[in-house]
Amino acid sequence: MATVLSVSGSPSVNSRTARLVRHLDLRLTAEGHEVLPLDVRTIPAEALLGADFRHPAIVEATELFARADGVVIGTPVYKAAYSGLLKALLDLLPQYALEGKTVLPLATGGTTAHVLAIDYALRPVLSSMGAAHIVQGWFTLDKDITVGDDGTLTVAPGSAEALAQVVDQFSVALGSRTTLLAAAG
Ligand SMILES: Cc1cc2nc3c(=O)[nH]c(=O)nc-3n(C[C@H](O)[C@H](O)[C@H](O)COP(=O)(O)O)c2cc1C
Repeated sequence: MATVLSVSGSPSVNSRTARLVRHLDLRLTAEGHEVLPLDVRTIPAEALLGADFRHPAIVEATELFARADGVVIGTPVYKAAYSGLLKALLDLLPQYALEGKTVLPLATGGTTAHVLAIDYALRPVLSSMGAAHIVQGWFTLDKDITVGDDGTLTVAPGSAEALAQVVDQFSVALGSRTTLLAAAG
């Protein structure tokens, strides 16, 4: 149906955000979308911190954004905002890298005090990059995400349902947009 770029902006090796986003990828795939995963932490630090626009990893990331109809942006909340790692990548993308795209913003955090970080911090950046439609996002408390010894991810009831709902709304929004674009030729 649609091509979705699924981004984790966490620098952590054992990232709850990355695990959560990859878990949600499965739902998007089951709904018929092609999902392209991107973990920003795998991009060489010298490219991100040295603003090396021509580095192959930055060029590749830029191409992934260009290919996508929709983008999932997952980030941990750090110091009441999105991660610096995510911002380092967004800063190296073209100004309108999200033009015409449907975007699902997701965050994980340690306190509900920062539940609105998606709306006051991330959403304005996504808008400035031309996102056509930023659907309802979701903030998940880190304690609601558990990883078993076998690597199985469990999301607390309540959060799990809310996440399923925002993913499904994103999927529907993507479907309407791709149909509209196809009709427009
Ligand atoms: C440096 C740092 C700063 C953090 N700042 C916040 C914060 O301001 N608000 C919050 O709710 N959680 C904060 N947290 C908690 C993380 O957002 C939370 O544990 C998140 O799920 C970590 O995701 P990750 O495992 O993908 O890195 C912070 C964690 C770290 C390591």
